[in-house]
Amino acid sequence: MIETIQQLRTVIEQDLAMIHDAASLETFRLKHLVKKGTLQELVDQLRTIPKEEKPAIGKVLNELRQFVESSIASAKESIEHQHSGIETIDVTLPGLLPAIGHVHPIRQTLDRIVDIFAGMGFSVAEGIDIEDDYHNYEALNFPADHPARDMQDTFFIDDAAGDVMLRSHTSPVQIRMMKYHAPPIRSIMPGRVYRNEAVTARSLAEFHQVEGLYIDKGVTFADLKGTITSFAKQMYGESLIFKFRPSYFPFTEPSAEVDINCYLCSGKGCKVCKHSGWLEICGCGMVHPNVLRNCGIDPDIYSGFAFGFGIERVTMLATGIDDIRALYENDMRVLRQF
Ligand code: DAH
Repeated sequence: MIETIQQLRTVIEQDLAMIHDAASLETFRLKHLVKKGTLQELVDQLRTIPKEEKPAIGKVLNELRQFVESSIASAKESIEHQHSGIETIDVTLPGLLPAIGHVHPIRQTLDRIVDIFAGMGFSVAEGIDIEDDYHNYEALNFPADHPARDMQDTFFIDDAAGDVMLRSHTSPVQIRMMKYHAPPIRSIMPGRVYRNEAVTARSLAEFHQVEGLYIDKGVTFADLKGTITSFAKQMYGESLIFKFRPSYFPFTEPSAEVDINCYLCSGKGCKVCKHSGWLEICGCGMVHPNVLRNCGIDPDIYSGFAFGFGIERVTMLATGIDDIRALYENDMRVLRQF
């Protein structure tokens, strides 16, 4: 009898290995565990064996029944797991792609600007965000009470002397370049600038500029025009329509601003260009002799030009984004397009 029980156990173990879904589990249960199943058949045979052997055999049979019951329970559990997807790995499925970032449009524009000017022999220099009155204004030929200071809406830092500020433009980097490097100097100076301006579709309180400076013997306004023209055509295309317009900056004389045909209305006049048909892209001029002198450069020997423009503005023109705030909101639907 013991031998028969052991044979049944072997069969049961083989059958267990065949269970892989609910249907095969049910087949197994019907074969072994129901009233007419194999186990019950052996229990029925107990009646025919001598009384003294019954307890020992009954015990073995009981163990086998417990084994079958617990095997069914664990098979059932693993089938349910499979269905819930836990711990099932389908190695044939394509993997999850990691999200790949890309360069922000403002940085892309700056990289392009640096590329273009590097091609014309300009190096790149950086200044500091917290400036003093001397570098941000005085050395740039803004006298203490000059109204041009007003246009810069400066954020002053609360210190005793009242002459520390967040730089309102990148022009102070010109001063540092001329003070610490002997001419010839040919550099662009990108960086963040700060102004107490309302945040609107056209302006922010924190934005970026690129300053340019070229100092050498015999530099003329023709060099300035040639450099800016070459830059603008490489940046916006050969067919670009633009003009130089006389302007005023304390640190350049003569001074000019460069306007390009509005990209939205092609010069017909619209909201973006304030119905003028033109968009201002850059301030520039010949470095004022006072500024050269302030930096220890003799204006009778050296001359030079400077220019400055906003990177956000260039980015907007290049991408067609018409609200400057969109460049800072980090909305992936916007950023993914560029
Ligand atoms: N610093 C000026 C501003 O923020 C821009 C500028 C104009 C820079 C003319 C220059 C320049 O170097 O020559 O308004």
